Amino acid sequence: MVHFDAKGRSSDRLSRGGNGPKAPISGFSHLMFEVKDLDRSEAFYRDVIGCDVIGRNLVNEVGPNLLMGLNTIHRILLVQVDHEVVPFRPNSSSIHHALFLTPEQFKAAQERFKAHGYDIDDNRAQFRPRGEYSMDIFDPDGHRYQVQVRTPEATAVIVENVGPQPAGNVRDYAVGDVKSFVKGKFIVVRMGGGFIAYSRWCTHMNGLLKWEPEHWRFYCPMHGVTYNRKGESIDFCRQVVPLRTHPLSIANDGSITVDPDKVIHREAFDEEQLTPAGTAVAATGGTI
Ligand code: FES
Repeated sequence: MVHFDAKGRSSDRLSRGGNGPKAPISGFSHLMFEVKDLDRSEAFYRDVIGCDVIGRNLVNEVGPNLLMGLNTIHRILLVQVDHEVVPFRPNSSSIHHALFLTPEQFKAAQERFKAHGYDIDDNRAQFRPRGEYSMDIFDPDGHRYQVQVRTPEATAVIVENVGPQPAGNVRDYAVGDVKSFVKGKFIVVRMGGGFIAYSRWCTHMNGLLKWEPEHWRFYCPMHGVTYNRKGESIDFCRQVVPLRTHPLSIANDGSITVDPDKVIHREAFDEEQLTPAGTAVAATGGTI
C-alpha cells in the first residue's frame, strides 16, 4: 500500500516509478475486451484460458456482453461490437496482459494450450533469467496474453563450485575500478576503503549483471534493475536486496583471491565489508 501526504506526495519510492498518475490504486476488478463474436470468445476463455462463465448481459453495456471469472477476485468482461476490433493501440504492438501462474498451473496450462493446437514456444527464452518461463497466447480477436511462471530456481542462490579464484593484484586496480570475472561469475570493485567481491547474479531473479562504465552502474538485462558500486539497488521500480558478496582476501604480495562458492547475504552496504589493501600497500612499499 502506498501512502500519500496532504499534498499528494508519497514517501514510498515504488510510487515514483513510471510516469503515471500518483493515485493510490491498490488493485483492479476486471479487464474489458471488445470482441467480434461472443460465442467464439466464450469458447476460448472457458476452454483454453479456463475461466468460469458467470453470465451474459449482466453489465449495462451497449452490446451483448459476457462476464467471466478468473480463479482470483478478478473478472474478464467481453463486449460484442460491430466495428473492427483493434487489439493493439497504433504503434504499440507489445501491449499485452500478463497472467502469473504457479508451476503446477503453468504445466496444466501448457498441456491445455497444446491440446487446443496453440504454439507455446517462447521466442524470447534467451532473454529470460533462470527459472522464469513464459508463453504467449492470443484470443480469437488478437488480444495477447503472456502466461508466466517463476519457479524456485529463479531465486535460488547460484554457485559454480569452482573453488577460490585469483582476481589480479591490488596494483591492477585504481580506486573506482570494477573488474568482472567469468569463472565463478563475480565482480571485484575497489573503493576508497578497500576491495569487495560481488556475485554477478541479480538478487531479483538471477539475471546476470553487466557493468556499464558509461552509467557507473551494474545493469540486469532481464528486468532492468540497476545497482551502484556498493551493490545497492538504485532502481525506482523494483526494490531488491543488495548484491551478495563473496569472501575476498589479499596476500602480502598484493594478490587478490575471491571464493565465489561462499555467498554472503547483506541488508545494506557497510564499510566493514571492504577488505583494505593496507597490508599489501605496506609490503609493496606503499605505492599502490
Ligand atoms: S533478474 Fe529481474 S532485474 Fe535482474
